[in-house]
Amino acid sequence: MKKIIIAIDGYSSTGKSTMAKQLARALGYIYVDTGAMYRAVTLYALQKGYIDENDFRKDALVADLKAIDLSFKYNPELQYSEMYLNGSNVEKEIRTLEVSGYVSQISVVPEVRQKLVALQQEMGREKGLVMDGRDIGTVVFPHAELKIFMTASPDIRATRRYKELLDRGALISYEEVLENVQKRDFLDSNREHSPLKKAEDAIVMDNSAMSQKEQFERALSLVQMRLENK
Ligand code: DC
Repeated sequence: MKKIIIAIDGYSSTGKSTMAKQLARALGYIYVDTGAMYRAVTLYALQKGYIDENDFRKDALVADLKAIDLSFKYNPELQYSEMYLNGSNVEKEIRTLEVSGYVSQISVVPEVRQKLVALQQEMGREKGLVMDGRDIGTVVFPHAELKIFMTASPDIRATRRYKELLDRGALISYEEVLENVQKRDFLDSNREHSPLKKAEDAIVMDNSAMSQKEQFERALSLVQMRLENK
């Protein structure tokens, strides 16, 4: 059976990773969450004190990029791969609102993007990969066989994210979450390097009114079409 690369891009909290994980599981493909990689670099910058609310010592982070080792390890219980930073599982720490608040600043740094894009392209050498992010169909794999661009209204996305954070025990208001979602939309879409934008040949999926099952089925039928066309 031929293997393809599936690139899933879109705004934050549009359910990209849920759908990408389901697809990878159904197809026996590898799933790569590139947002987790940007988040892990952000966590590293916070741990090292390169960034805080008053200051971002970008040059210090760039000079130290070589010391950042990122890898994914499959967790059979969860059935997906978790993010490791220099050998430690950081899957939980990278999902905090603190990391979410700084990640847009870290992900505009060209040297950070260069390092992560190279790693991501390496992971796709054998194909059989579902990768989600912001620039997968435009920059990382411009020749991906299937590109999906996911959107949903900011309200719907903030509500989903708010529920997720509450489930994890976070003390947070809906307004704070909505503000974070809107701020990240703006920064992700307006940055100079690799801004979030739909690849010309990407298929748009607005899932404001779609169930997870409907999204998954639609995506799977797109995959089947691509596999038959090859
Ligand atoms: O998908 P996410 O919300 O976990 O991503 C976190 C941040 O990382 C997001 O604000 C934008 C950035 N990002 C990026 O710039 N490029 C990617 N391919 C993936 C994420």
